[in-house]
Amino acid sequence: MKLFESVKLLPLLVAAQATGNPIIKIAAPSLTDSSDSDSHNNTETISHSPSSQTTAYSNNWSGTVLSQPPSGDEFTHVSTTFTIPKVSSDGLDSYQSASVWVGIDGATVSDAILQTGVDVGIRDGSPLYTAWYQWYPEASLTWPDFELQAGDVIVTTVNATSKTSGICIVENKSTGQKATKTLESPNPSSTLSGQNAEWIVEDFLSDGKPVPLVDFGEITFEESRAETKKGKSVGVSGATPYVMIIDGKQVSEVDVVNDSQFKVKHT
Ligand SMILES: *[C@@H]1O[C@H](CO)[C@@H](O)[C@H](O)[C@H]1NC(C)=O
Ligand SMILES: *[C@@H]1O[C@H](CO)[C@@H](O)[C@H](O)[C@H]1NC(C)=O
Ligand SMILES: *[C@@H]1O[C@H](CO)[C@@H](O)[C@H](O)[C@H]1NC(C)=O
Ligand SMILES: *[C@@H]1O[C@H](CO)[C@@H](O)[C@H](O)[C@H]1NC(C)=O
Ligand SMILES: *[C@@H]1O[C@H](CO)[C@@H](O)[C@H](O)[C@H]1NC(C)=O
Repeated sequence: MKLFESVKLLPLLVAAQATGNPIIKIAAPSLTDSSDSDSHNNTETISHSPSSQTTAYSNNWSGTVLSQPPSGDEFTHVSTTFTIPKVSSDGLDSYQSASVWVGIDGATVSDAILQTGVDVGIRDGSPLYTAWYQWYPEASLTWPDFELQAGDVIVTTVNATSKTSGICIVENKSTGQKATKTLESPNPSSTLSGQNAEWIVEDFLSDGKPVPLVDFGEITFEESRAETKKGKSVGVSGATPYVMIIDGKQVSEVDVVNDSQFKVKHT
């Protein structure tokens, strides 16, 4: 296995922003608890899941969320490995996308999210894969020299090194090529509290509107784990599965396979 040097980190606004379409990755998602919702009656979709957690419904997140660290502790690391999916368009929009990422905070504490991942999309018939990092509410920035294609096996990692600093890493597992970025909290109120760790497929905002969600097939999140400040390793079997509902229609399913692996399927 050849190890590449770290790619040059020239922070650039994401292409869509450069062309005037601001992309904001995430504010707190809207949630409905399935236990008090009739219209979101989809519990059978996760019946094979060993997760004992109640499913949460969101209009922009699907995946799994640890909404609380072990008592007296905080999340300082979250990572996963996934294969860049082949995406397909339903032909209704020239640009369709979804974002696959890991992050700390943002689910129940919304002042800040340290996050990194990959946008998978299609523009005018061509696949579009972009690796990015973000300290929300600052906009996401791309790694311009990190090229991706369907089938690449990608490891994404965020580490909080303090409440106001962190590291985002995206690695091509096949080649060992790594992009690393050290980030600082963009403003005094956007500090991390380490209360949430999450593994997400997001229908993000593009130009102020939810991007038409691309058909991302099925994404398997492998080797998914979080780590706490006190060194505890926490997996996804105790995490809350998030299912996405757009315009009243369920568009994803989550299947938690075991403590380190789950699948998000576009439906
Ligand atoms: C996610 O959905 C919630 C609820 O509709 C909305 O308030 C929030 O702005 C959305 N966030 C993003 C970044 O799309
Ligand atoms: C929800 O599922 C339960 C159990 O299958 C069923 O009895 C109930 O009628 C369903 N409610 C709706 C709104 O579909
Ligand atoms: C990642 O690895 C795959 C398979 O080895 C390769 O085809 C692809 O070009 C690599 N991507 C980058 C950005 O190096
Ligand atoms: C990120 O955290 C993980 C887990 O503690 C650790 O193994 C890894 O070395 C850290 N990476 C960096 C660049 O600090
Ligand atoms: C989870 O399942 C996958 C696929 O069968 C397996 O490779 C992995 O080792 C399992 N991990 C754990 C923690 O059981």
